[in-house]
Amino acid sequence: MDGDTNESRGSGRGERTPVTVLGLGLMGSALARTLLAKQHPTTVWNRSSGRAGELVSRGAVEASSLAEAVALSPVVIVCVSGYEAMRQIVEPVGERLSGHLLVNLTSGTPTEARAVAAWAAELGVDYLDGAIMATPPLIGGPETLILYGGSQGAFEEHAPTLMTLGGQSTFLAEDVGVPLFYDLALLGMLWTTTAGYLHALALVSSAGVEPAEFVPFATAWFEHVLSPDLGDTAAEVAAGEFATEVSSIEVNKAAMDHLIAASRTAGIATELFEPIKALLDRQVDEGRGAGSLASLIELLRRPEPPAAQ
Ligand SMILES: NC(=O)c1ccc[n+]([C@@H]2O[C@H](COP(=O)([O-])OP(=O)(O)OC[C@H]3O[C@@H](n4cnc5c(N)ncnc54)[C@H](OP(=O)(O)O)[C@@H]3O)[C@@H](O)[C@H]2O)c1
Repeated sequence: MDGDTNESRGSGRGERTPVTVLGLGLMGSALARTLLAKQHPTTVWNRSSGRAGELVSRGAVEASSLAEAVALSPVVIVCVSGYEAMRQIVEPVGERLSGHLLVNLTSGTPTEARAVAAWAAELGVDYLDGAIMATPPLIGGPETLILYGGSQGAFEEHAPTLMTLGGQSTFLAEDVGVPLFYDLALLGMLWTTTAGYLHALALVSSAGVEPAEFVPFATAWFEHVLSPDLGDTAAEVAAGEFATEVSSIEVNKAAMDHLIAASRTAGIATELFEPIKALLDRQVDEGRGAGSLASLIELLRRPEPPAAQ
């Protein structure tokens, strides 16, 4: 890429970078709408017809073909339902993407992202893979986080355009798998904490407690768990040292047994906690009951119980 600034790569100095958005589902439309609102010349394309109308009324150009869509902008964003769909779109125009920046905001796995990055590298296409940590209405917001991996030079060159979509856009690594791992790691935390919270609401409401009455206790508990204990947990994991004089696996195992017994008595499903109980039991059975809760990572890294001798 040349040394022009982001704003100078359009049809004249001082103009916003023209951007093409491929895929006009909920997220693709939000991306295109935000680019239009921030005065980026915006070209849109979607597999099915009929999804571009509102964007065209806001000033977007609807490309008549994929080839035209790619040709009209130095930055091409693709955001569709999955990597298979994404590849079906970009592979036929791979040669035409040379000299453009391809920004893939489609969700998937690190393996899928790395395969696309390798394909782009072979063609000489600058490539960024991004994980959007937000819903469509939040696109364009100052707090919106989009995690990127791939070409650091391309990220830096086009940072103003990328910041338009998410004010907290962050480049993590040249390995495009990294932002995808962050994405899935954070989603895993979202689901486990939300499921734990819902179980808690089921438990306390079984005793006639209104959910709202429990909220201040849950909020304070989340704060307690998250800070500063998360930093301590990360330090334990980094050091591989799990000695504790505070709260052992054995103590937590006993409390887990109480939680499962109380849930059963209250008629509340225990499936959520059975796998965690199994991890605690294994640590005790394998002689590591005196370690801290963070020591469970040893089992998460070695998911299968050892084969019987
Ligand atoms: N929505 C969210 O809250 C959110 C948040 C973070 C990340 N994301 C990610 O953003 C991506 C798009 O999500 P979305 O909410 O916009 O989904 P969506 O509303 O269901 O839109 C899906 C898009 O994919 C296109 N598509 C599907 N299969 C295709 C194929 N074989 N060839 C070409 N185009 C195809 C659809 O085109 P047609 O109109 O022709 O069917 C449509 O444009 C996903 O990877 C999602 O995980 C979404």
